[in-house]
Amino acid sequence: MEKFVEAGKIRSLGLSNWYVKELKEFLPQVSITPALVQNEIHPYYQENDVIPYIQSLGIVVQGWYPLGGRGHTAELLGDTVISEIAKAHGVSSAQIILRWNLQKGVVVIPGSSNPDHIRENTRLYDFSLTDGEMARINALDRGEKHDWY
Ligand SMILES: NC(=O)c1ccc[n+]([C@@H]2O[C@H](COP(=O)([O-])OP(=O)(O)OC[C@H]3O[C@@H](n4cnc5c(N)ncnc54)[C@H](OP(=O)(O)O)[C@@H]3O)[C@@H](O)[C@H]2O)c1
Repeated sequence: MEKFVEAGKIRSLGLSNWYVKELKEFLPQVSITPALVQNEIHPYYQENDVIPYIQSLGIVVQGWYPLGGRGHTAELLGDTVISEIAKAHGVSSAQIILRWNLQKGVVVIPGSSNPDHIRENTRLYDFSLTDGEMARINALDRGEKHDWY
């Protein structure tokens, strides 16, 4: 892949489903630092040990399944804490989860085939979560991974 970057065929490289141990082994073996690592991240699976490590390397962290992934969204979007914070800001639970990621410096890629949801998921920049609200969502972590790749 590095050869394709050098040849100008690829602009940047990224990894998916890589964690601290894997990165510590892998990075010394490559000359081009990956631009991004894409991992499962949502309030019930927060990767709080992994995110700061990847960010400290200057690598962007991107979260997949930000809303829990298909089959799990109802529980996350209906979570009492998230719903309360959403009500306080007059936005949806999905927007609260996406904004929580952005405030942690995590890029999010919610999936949707609903134009209203897609529009809603881009409206994240006219409100912000307080430190207390961030802490309440951080406290929801239960190490509950929804998929393995
Ligand atoms: N790298 C990896 O190993 C990996 C693994 C899994 C997934 N991914 C990627 O992660 C991305 C997201 O995955 P995903 O779509 O499965 O999970 P997701 O974003 O957590 O959840 C998508 C579900 O949330 C619903 N949704 C989206 N916006 C909503 C809103 N504003 N209000 C209510 N419901 C909303 C969608 O329904 P509607 O269609 O009705 O909006 C859909 O059912 C995809 O690009 C996927 O390719 C990567």
